[in-house]
Amino acid sequence: MKRRTLVPLIFSLIVTVIASGVIHYTLTMYFIRQAKDNITNILLFNKELTLYIKKIVEPAVFEAIRDGRISKDFYDPKLLSVSHTLRSMHELNNEIREKRNLVTVYYKLASNNPRNPVNKADEQEAKLIKFFNENPDIKEYEKLVEVNGKNFLYYAKPFPRNNGYCLGCHSIPEKAPLNMRKLYPQGGGFYEKFGEIRGIESLRSPIEYPGYMTLMVTGSAGSGLLTMLAIFFFRRLFRADI
Ligand code: HEC
Repeated sequence: MKRRTLVPLIFSLIVTVIASGVIHYTLTMYFIRQAKDNITNILLFNKELTLYIKKIVEPAVFEAIRDGRISKDFYDPKLLSVSHTLRSMHELNNEIREKRNLVTVYYKLASNNPRNPVNKADEQEAKLIKFFNENPDIKEYEKLVEVNGKNFLYYAKPFPRNNGYCLGCHSIPEKAPLNMRKLYPQGGGFYEKFGEIRGIESLRSPIEYPGYMTLMVTGSAGSGLLTMLAIFFFRRLFRADI
């Protein structure tokens, strides 16, 4: 092949490779950012739901107990437990996602010593609970993971530390409401220590790549083609000048 054709060809090829690298990096960063935004929104919604339980549901139940409308040892985690409510809400949300053929979002309020066995931390979550307890300045953890061939952004943040209020239900069993103890006969979630982190919010949000291939192919091939045209154009212009 003549040098006149070979040089633009090699040059365009180099531009195509560089362009595909840049496009791949930019797209990946963009989709990771989207997964992070999704996690931020989930955590914000969790916070809102927690506040709703604390500021609206709890006072309403306590008022009903005070007025004698419901029994004074009433306890129902479906109404009063943040953990139960958040889990149920995420299960319902995933049911909707499944119906719409969307990848489900993993969410767990994980603990090494759970009151409800379904909240038991897996190996990775157990390590993170230890990690957050040992490193009080670190407030979040994130990592890219692959599950069943799909890419996810994994994120964890510590649940608030145990205070006096928490120990009303999470220290010795005798202190906790009797009705609640009956609902959790496994007896987990007791003997917790003041100031410790007993759980983490553990999430996995899908990183979806809509239009990735189209943008990659048109972007990289387009840059290569444009470079080739530009070289021919400037060459011709240069020669005409001479
Ligand atoms: C009125 C009793 C009560 C109080 C007060 C309470 N919890 Fe719980 N907690 C529960 C129950 C019941 C569950 C299990 C609910 C479920 O998921 O079914 C639970 C679950 C949890 C879980 C999920 C893991 C597990 O044990 O199953 C965490 C983490 C947790 N509580 C932390 C706290 C913290 C921190 C506080 C204080 C800010 C607190 N709790 C206050 C009753 C209580």
